[in-house]
Order: sequence, then structure tokens, then C-alpha cells
Amino acid sequence: MQGSPASSTRVNIRPASGKLGILTPGLGAVATTFIAGVESVRRGLSQPIGSLTQMATVRLGKRTENRSPLIKDFVPLAKLSDIVFGAWDPIPDDAYTAAKNAGVLEDKDLEPLKDFLSGIVPMPAVFESRYVTRLTNTTNVKSGKTKRDLAEQLRQDIRDFKAKNGCDRVVAVWCASTETFIKPGPQHATIEQFERAMEANDDAIAPSMLYAWACIMEDVPYCNGAPNLAVDTPALIELANQRGVPISGKDFKTGQTWMKTVIAPGIKARMLGLAGWYSTNILGNRDGEVLDDPASFKTKEEPKLSVLHTILQPEQYPALYKDFSHVVRINYYPPRGDNKEGWDNIDIFGWMGYPMQIKVNFLCRDSILAAPMVLDLALLSDFAHRAGMKGIQEWLSFYYKSPMAAAGLQPEHDLFIQQTKLKNTLRHLMGEEQITHLGLEYYAS
Ligand SMILES: NC(=O)c1ccc[n+]([C@@H]2O[C@H](COP(=O)([O-])OP(=O)(O)OC[C@H]3O[C@@H](n4cnc5c(N)ncnc54)[C@H](O)[C@@H]3O)[C@@H](O)[C@H]2O)c1
Repeated sequence: MQGSPASSTRVNIRPASGKLGILTPGLGAVATTFIAGVESVRRGLSQPIGSLTQMATVRLGKRTENRSPLIKDFVPLAKLSDIVFGAWDPIPDDAYTAAKNAGVLEDKDLEPLKDFLSGIVPMPAVFESRYVTRLTNTTNVKSGKTKRDLAEQLRQDIRDFKAKNGCDRVVAVWCASTETFIKPGPQHATIEQFERAMEANDDAIAPSMLYAWACIMEDVPYCNGAPNLAVDTPALIELANQRGVPISGKDFKTGQTWMKTVIAPGIKARMLGLAGWYSTNILGNRDGEVLDDPASFKTKEEPKLSVLHTILQPEQYPALYKDFSHVVRINYYPPRGDNKEGWDNIDIFGWMGYPMQIKVNFLCRDSILAAPMVLDLALLSDFAHRAGMKGIQEWLSFYYKSPMAAAGLQPEHDLFIQQTKLKNTLRHLMGEEQITHLGLEYYAS
């Protein structure tokens, strides 16, 4: 044995034949940037920059073997040409109009795609303004006597979409607004209690949970790009396990938190101390407006705060990380639109306790960072499903600020550990040796 687990045999994986439907609850900035980008790549107008499934390679075997195929050539993923898009949104705008309003992409990129984007019209959403308070023009909404009725209508939408577009398979990625903060309660404890609560129109059952339930019931893997609970409850995890459907979440790891999960492991690797980390953002898109509501921001704040704690493990390293201050602010500032600006001030200390500061000023574009993640999550979740994987997909933690983990397990936040886990899962499923970097000949290139 040369420091690597014995090679596994390849798991039986159904081929990616036929069309793959990608459904997004939400047709706003992220979803339209994702759809426009895929179409632009399909027409040869852009490169899929930021997408691991399209651009990253994976090293196989020993370094001396010189085998580093592209992930998409190594793993049987659906092809971009086989993707069909659909969405739900309470705002009736088609994808072209929604993309224009979102203001992420410039006319020079949008206009050539107008014919295609105008054809994507959102299905009526399950929506209640009490869960997302800052939206207006929400006229494209389903009605039903109970939440269960509404969820059954979502199931019918999925079946109709699949039939109309001749899809072999469908996956869903939540790209809708962040809902208000809900704590898991007895309504989310078991499948029976969850279904009873749907029938009783219980307030603890948010629209995102109805989408998640409907998708799992229809054999549709569900990825949660926002921080609301949605599929992260014992009831829906159990349902996904029972029905053999992959699920993952929560909250795309794009801007400031992504930076944190890059920088914090570096500080810890060098055993430097942290006195405090202050993060502030200005953001002017609709997501920023929704997050201006304290109840929606609370949903977002929790995952943002937990990241540093889990990476730095203050219990294990009290001399370095006990009681560091961590403050996160998001301020809605309309002039910036989707182009967020974030500032981080990091107070660290080194040898003999001497203080130092790191300042990060990140001028990022949220939806440009999130769009390739939607693509990767959809393709990898579909692949996982065909490989017989079910329930929480921890190997997709790479994409999330607040990764779902099995009960009693701490989620992994370190981006580099997450990346290793992702690639090792692909190697394992394809019957290649996992790479542990233990032996010299296994040293990563
Ligand atoms: N862009 C990023 O970097 C990033 C990172 C992490 C998380 N997110 C999350 O992704 C989500 C989408 O972000 P965005 O910038 O596209 O926001 P957005 O406001 O532009 O779009 C959200 C869309 O969801 C719709 N919506 C609201 N409730 C809905 C429901 N119940 N069913 C269907 N549609 C519904 C809204 O009408 C809107 O069109 C947000 O929750 C955001 O917090 C984004």
C-alpha cells in the first residue's frame, strides 16, 4: 500500500442519456445569469468560467502516470446541449425581462440571447409575502386550500414540464429569495408530522419546504442555494433517504464567505491567532433589498457567523481563537446594483502576541460567482442520482456556506478539504484510487 486506499470498483452509473431538465424556484439575478451563461456557452459566445464540471481537471493515479482529464471527460455528466430550463417565480417576467431588470449582464451579452430567454416564462409560484416581505408585483402565484394542495400542484408542474420537454431526468436548484428565519420544530421532525402540518397550513411550513417536498416526491434532486431551512429538516432528509433522492444545501458560497474559507484555513495552518474579523458589504440588487429586512438577514447571518468557528476550532486552540470577535453586516445600497463591495478587516496576532492586520476589499459580482455553481450543482446532483446516491450529499459542501451534514456531525467549511472531498468522491465512484497525498508519488500536482 502506497498511502492510498485500495482502488475501488466503479459504481454502477446510469448513463446521462436524453435531456436533463433544470428547474429553478426563482427566476431572478442568479437564475437568469446562469441560464443566459449556459446558452451563451452553447452558442460558442463564452467560456464556462468558474465551473468545475466544465473547466477543472482531476488527477488520477500516481503523478508519474500523467493522467489529468477534465472532470466532464472523466465523469458521465449531462452535456450542456442536453439541458432544458424551467422556473417558478411570483413575478411574471420572462427570463429576458428578468435578466434586464437584474442588471447583471450587459446588453451586448443579453441581446443576442433575447429569442431564447424570452421563451422561458416562469410557472406560477408557491409564494406568501409573510416569508419574503420586500417583494412587489407578485401576481404569478398559485392558490390552493392547503399547503399540501399547493405542493401537489408543484408536483404536477414537474410532471408536465418533463413530459412537454421530453426530459429523461429533472433536477432543481433553489434560486429564489431568502425566506424569513424559521427554527426547526416538531412540524419538521418526521415525515408524518411534516405532512400533517402541510395539511393544517402551519406557519412553520415555508414555500421552500413545499418545493423541496414536491421535488423529492417526484424523484428530483434538490439543491438549496439560499440559507433558509427548506430541505434541511429531519423530515425531508428522511424522505430523501427513503425515496433515494440526493439533496444538498445551504446557501451558495460566493463572495465574502468564500474568501473567509480561503483565508481562515491559511491563518490556522500557520498557527497564527485571531482577535477579530469584521466584514461589511454594500449591495444594491433585489437580494440586498430582501436582506434589508432583519428577519431575512437573520437567516443569512447565522451561517455566515458559524463558518469561522468551525474552521478555527477555538475549543481545540483556545490560546489562538478563544473569544475572537466576528461581526458581519450587509447594507442595502441601491447605486451598486448587483456589483457588491465587501470589506474585511482581520486582526491577527503572531509570535509573542504581536498584532497584525489583513484588509480585503473585494469588488465582486454576486450572480457572476453564483451562476457556475448552479450549473455544477445541477450536473453533479444528477450524476449522484444516476450513481444511486441519496440523502445529504456532503461532497457538494464545496459550493455551500452552510453545508448540510448528517445529524451529530460538524460540517466541513475549509474550501481545500471540501475540494479534496469532491474530487475523491468522483474518483471513488469511477473506480479510481482516492488521493490522500500521503506518499511522495501521490503528491498533488
Ligand atoms: N448571488 C449570490 O452570490 C448568492 C449567494 C448565496 C445565496 N444567494 C441566494 O440566492 C437567491 C437568489 O439570489 P438572486 O440575487 O437571484 O435574488 P433575486 O431577488 O434577484 O431573485 C430571487 C427571485 O426569487 C423569486 N421568489 C421569491 N420567492 C419565491 C418563491 N416562493 N417561489 C419562486 N420564486 C420566488 C423572486 O420573485 C425573485 O425573482 C437568494 O436567496 C440569495 O440569498 C445568492
